[in-house]
Amino acid sequence: MAEKTAEQKPAIQIRGLTKIFTLGKEKVYALNGIDLDIYPTEIVCLLGTSGSGKSTLLNMMAGLEKPTKGVITIFGERIDKMNERKLAMFRQKYMGFVFQAYNLLPNLTAIDNVSLPLAFAGVKKSVRTKKAKKMLKLCGLGKRMRHKPTQMSGGQQQRVGIARAFVATPKIVFADEPTGNLDTHTTIEIMEMMVRMSRENHQTLVIVTHDIEIAGYADKIYHIIDGKISAVEDNRGKQIIPADAEAGAAEAVPKEETPVESAVSEQNEPPEDSGKNLPDTEDDIRIENILKNSGLSNEIHTEEEQI
Ligand SMILES: Nc1ncnc2c1ncn2[C@@H]1O[C@H](COP(=O)(O)OP(=O)(O)OP(=O)(O)O)[C@@H](O)[C@H]1O
Ligand SMILES: [Mg+2]
Repeated sequence: MAEKTAEQKPAIQIRGLTKIFTLGKEKVYALNGIDLDIYPTEIVCLLGTSGSGKSTLLNMMAGLEKPTKGVITIFGERIDKMNERKLAMFRQKYMGFVFQAYNLLPNLTAIDNVSLPLAFAGVKKSVRTKKAKKMLKLCGLGKRMRHKPTQMSGGQQQRVGIARAFVATPKIVFADEPTGNLDTHTTIEIMEMMVRMSRENHQTLVIVTHDIEIAGYADKIYHIIDGKISAVEDNRGKQIIPADAEAGAAEAVPKEETPVESAVSEQNEPPEDSGKNLPDTEDDIRIENILKNSGLSNEIHTEEEQI
């Protein structure tokens, strides 16, 4: 599990990473000379107190912010040198994201939120709907597929967030305080779901947290203080293992929630996995608009055969 071999190259390599924010005359060193190597299939935590630079570091790794100085290489490619267009394509191909505030699109149903990364990848609608539904079921949300974010609890919204991050099986998933808004019980559920999925799909998972308990799930813990790595802890052999992590994917999923009173009728749910195109809805039109406005719609091509 996440053992690196002599030949294995890092998934993420960072050297001399520095980020300075200038506020008037004041310079804030958010990151101050970070070096690290994260290997494929590792589960890594960036652990530190508020303001230590964790999110800045994660955002740099994900190409969401440019460094002031330093080198960031992902799968051998210098992302600090990439232009925005190339970065967007790179992120779409290799990365998934889970956010503290879920960041779901409020007007889209769970299915359509989860479908988005596939839509960006040019997967045709019947296939992406099928995959999104499968993923939502895997995340225990089979009864919430047509709910919109406001019709779900925080824990349910975060499960949609996880389904969206994992649906296109990106090689790396980044999660910034993914359980920051959740209670203890839900935190464990969400952490175990992410860890199980990463392990089963052999993905690299990078989690930002201030919570030592959450760091317990990681193979390796990077302690961050004042924009620097103060310690690296090898947690292999001690990490928390989800109860059924060794089981197959089908068994490793949370139980379907028992239906509770719902604001949305499931009566009109089309037959699952029919593979047929569904009629256009308001949500489909929204997805098409998002794609059009993203500037990526001309770049995408149908890849469903590969998925
Ligand atoms: N856009 C910005 N402009 C100026 N300063 C910033 C900016 N973003 C972050 N900082 C500063 O950089 C430092 C690191 O911020 P960062 O958001 O990375 O911390 P964090 O460890 O994620 O904290 P938290 O746990 O509160 O989310 C902080 O001192 C913060 O004030
Ligand atoms: Mg943060």
